[in-house]
Amino acid sequence: MTSNPLLPWSISADEFPADGSASDQLEFLLGYAILAPSPHNTQPWLFRVNAKDVELFADSDRALPVADPNGRELVISGGAALFNLRVAAEHFGRTYHLELEPAPENADLLARFQLDLHAETPSEHLLLFDAIPRRRTCRHAFETTPIPEELLEAWSDAAARHGAWLRLVTEASARLDLAELIAAGARRQWADKRFRAELARWSRLKPHECEDGYPITALGVNSMLSFAGPSLVRTFNLGKSQANTDREIALHSPVLAILGTDGDDVRSWLDAGQAMENIFLIAAAEGLQTSYLNQPFEVPDLREQLAEMIGNPGYPQVLIRLGVGPEVPPTPRRPVKKLLVARLSVHH
Ligand SMILES: Cc1cc2nc3c(=O)[nH]c(=O)nc-3n(C[C@H](O)[C@H](O)[C@H](O)COP(=O)(O)O)c2cc1C
Repeated sequence: MTSNPLLPWSISADEFPADGSASDQLEFLLGYAILAPSPHNTQPWLFRVNAKDVELFADSDRALPVADPNGRELVISGGAALFNLRVAAEHFGRTYHLELEPAPENADLLARFQLDLHAETPSEHLLLFDAIPRRRTCRHAFETTPIPEELLEAWSDAAARHGAWLRLVTEASARLDLAELIAAGARRQWADKRFRAELARWSRLKPHECEDGYPITALGVNSMLSFAGPSLVRTFNLGKSQANTDREIALHSPVLAILGTDGDDVRSWLDAGQAMENIFLIAAAEGLQTSYLNQPFEVPDLREQLAEMIGNPGYPQVLIRLGVGPEVPPTPRRPVKKLLVARLSVHH
């Protein structure tokens, strides 16, 4: 039986097992980690809770071989989950020790997070905790109201704290070029049958009855068509209308920003994921909405063109937009219990 897949969003801080063991506390904290975003809402993560630490694994069964052949976005999602875990631990006054890629021989082991039971936390992230369950991906157009300068700086600082960089695209001509690349990305992806099949596999006609995947209405197909469901996505190339919608949305977003890193390896992707979620939580704490226009990043030569266009050395990882937008409902999540792999019997 599937329990209510929206229940994970109602997590209550009052239920934190303050007197419990470190592993009880870690398991509780994972309830915040799993509210992180992931491409197509694949939730590509697994966790092993040990006596004093939790290990985060990439779940390669949930990879997206067409849109994300190198698992780059998969690892970025892991980084986002990790950032939620850090913010939650700090909220409950716990310090931690975080190791990224702790065992190079095990490529799926992305991180180890060790909890210190009795510590006081000087926290830089306290304000972000309440924003974890409020963050959503909102695909609607945002109001064009300009965003205060301080917030733009806060986002850039957040990226830098995680070893990433944020390039705000404000000039009209750069924005236009970017909008064209986004539209080209959508057209190219939709022209590929394999891409459509993958998209269809994760699209959900009745999202409230599933624990993963994204609502088909997120593709912007109108409600007349959406009843046809995933088969519509698989069969028809909606690339042209998607490209037009994306171009308009890109041109009218108050903030379009490219988050990038100097490297392009697992470590850089984990950094990018943490930076991304930090930026999103700052936005959500201010009542702003966040979204992606990641199509050009999923087509290799367009990603290269984009890197050239923005002129930053390094690698663009996610294209995000931020602004005032309508509230949207949460998407489903699998409960933590289903994501736990067997605990190690020997201590490392
Ligand atoms: C690395 C990454 C890339 C994403 N790219 C896109 C994208 O290009 N277009 C889009 O609409 N959503 C994109 N998403 C958003 C996911 O579809 C969304 O996070 C997921 O459906 C869960 O919904 P939520 O963010 O509201 O919790 C992306 C998410 C991540 C983590």
